[in-house]
Amino acid sequence: MAGHRSLVSASILDADLSNLSRDSRKALRGGADRIHLDVMDGHFVPNISFGPAIIKRLRKIGKQPFDAHLMISEPGRYMDQFIDAGCDSITFHVEVEEPIEPILLKIRKAGRLAGLAIKPATPLTALDPYRDLLDIVMVMTVEPGFGGQKFITDAAAKIEPAHQVFRDRIGERPSQREVHVDGGVNRDSAEVCGRQGADILVVGSVLWKKGTDLQREIKLIKSLADKGYRTRGHSKSASKKTTAGEAQ
Ligand code: DX5
Ligand code: ZN
Repeated sequence: MAGHRSLVSASILDADLSNLSRDSRKALRGGADRIHLDVMDGHFVPNISFGPAIIKRLRKIGKQPFDAHLMISEPGRYMDQFIDAGCDSITFHVEVEEPIEPILLKIRKAGRLAGLAIKPATPLTALDPYRDLLDIVMVMTVEPGFGGQKFITDAAAKIEPAHQVFRDRIGERPSQREVHVDGGVNRDSAEVCGRQGADILVVGSVLWKKGTDLQREIKLIKSLADKGYRTRGHSKSASKKTTAGEAQ
């Protein structure tokens, strides 16, 4: 599926939890660029999913990037385990009540990408103190905790300005500065995500619905996001004049 500007990280939260290796491979074969791993502790969010031991076992499926999204109250306490599990990026929430900077430093020291996620109601300014330590900003477009929720359009408005968090960060590969959008991303919301300039679209429940043609769904979501990228910065009427070649 070369040629797409947009990248999809497949969330396996709503996949068959007894067959995660099979379903992760299926998502990658279907065109997903990486795997998004939702870790929940039943405390930071009212749901429990899986932890580092499962991720470590899953790591055996191949070399594709693994993005961990930690919805847990004490990310610092478990960070060594997530590093050891082989996560390529580790994102936790800025809303946690423990010192954030040392955790980001630890992730980066281990050679992994460090990210902070923000809930829909949290302003981007909450990230200001950590700007220089961030590789990823994950904009949540649902309340974290469950797959299958409705996309919150107001929260998506933070995607475009989220890129500003990385301003003045010269001399780094763009791949180390990513804005992810997570929650309710599907064929109805993908274009908005693209228009906002999201680098990575996290796509979950729609991939695992009975009868979904994974490859077709991922291709459609990427195409719609690409369409959004092409119209970036243009009003609706102006966008009609924009040709595919004028993207960005
Ligand atoms: C929600 C998770 C999401 C979720 C995405 O707390 O962080 O990654 O699995 O699933 P959908 O696409 O169904 O919102
Ligand atoms: Zn997630």
